[in-house]
Amino acid sequence: MKHFLVRSTTQALLRRSRNFSTAAIAQPRHHHGGGTYGSFYLQRMSTLPEKKDQQPEENKNETNNKNSKAVVSSYWGIARPKLLKEDGTEWPWNCFMPWESYSSDVSIDVTKHHVPKTFTDKFAFRSVKFLRVLSDLYFKERYGCHAMMLETIAGVPGMVAGMLLHLKSLRKFQHTGGWIKALLEEAENERMHLMTMVELVKPSWHERLLVITAQGVFFNAFFVFYILSPKTAHRFVGYLEEEAVISYTQHLNAIESGKVENVPAPAIAIDYWRLPKDATLKDVITVIRADEAHHRDVNHFASDIHHQGKELKEAPAPIGYH
Ligand SMILES: [Fe+2]
Ligand SMILES: [Fe+2]
Repeated sequence: MKHFLVRSTTQALLRRSRNFSTAAIAQPRHHHGGGTYGSFYLQRMSTLPEKKDQQPEENKNETNNKNSKAVVSSYWGIARPKLLKEDGTEWPWNCFMPWESYSSDVSIDVTKHHVPKTFTDKFAFRSVKFLRVLSDLYFKERYGCHAMMLETIAGVPGMVAGMLLHLKSLRKFQHTGGWIKALLEEAENERMHLMTMVELVKPSWHERLLVITAQGVFFNAFFVFYILSPKTAHRFVGYLEEEAVISYTQHLNAIESGKVENVPAPAIAIDYWRLPKDATLKDVITVIRADEAHHRDVNHFASDIHHQGKELKEAPAPIGYH
């Protein structure tokens, strides 16, 4: 039975991983001293490529200590198969798998704008513009910090909307046309933006405090907002995404003009967006901006469905729309 499960899991992974190879670990290892298996559970502190080869001796010791403290699977039979990248090196991430990485469609139109027509559209548009004024006053030209803080908020709406649709599906014994998955994918994608930005910008204690406060307010406000009017809530997010596209365009301009140093891309970004090994911050911001443009389209589309007096489940969800 156990053999069958391992074989089935491996086959499923082999089917799903398009460009990556896997080597299944048939039996969990019980070495508490680290080794190959323990390294899967090691949380990487930084993924900036230039730091990897120059890791100081004390950090290496810290790494070994963490390895030895890594959770080792035994009785429960929890074992992640060993995954390899295309170049044969080990897949280093637990937070996303090779088949979840993708090449961003950067050809998407980044200038698109939904002209607000209805009262609720105008309300959503003006609310976002008001928030934009506040954020510009606070961040000014601190592009990296602005992006990082923006992402802590951007990951909330998809999760709230996906959660509410999930509960509705359970409550009403109904399908949702794939929208739960599409919205949760958006939230996860935003979180990966944050995991990338935090490699480049370290938040100060007062910024962390601001994030905690903003999350408390925004999560609850958006939760109520979505229950009251999903139509307006999706339009609001559509406009937030339009502003995110504008912010990342300004970030790109600052890189091009030399105001912001075009540092090497973090390793997590190279693997997540399948970027070349020598990718830079400019490449990372370009793919993030494309993601934001896709989120903009998804949310304006969702709002349009509601504007037509229909439910989201009546239109196929854009799953995997990047
Ligand atoms: Fe984002
Ligand atoms: Fe976004």
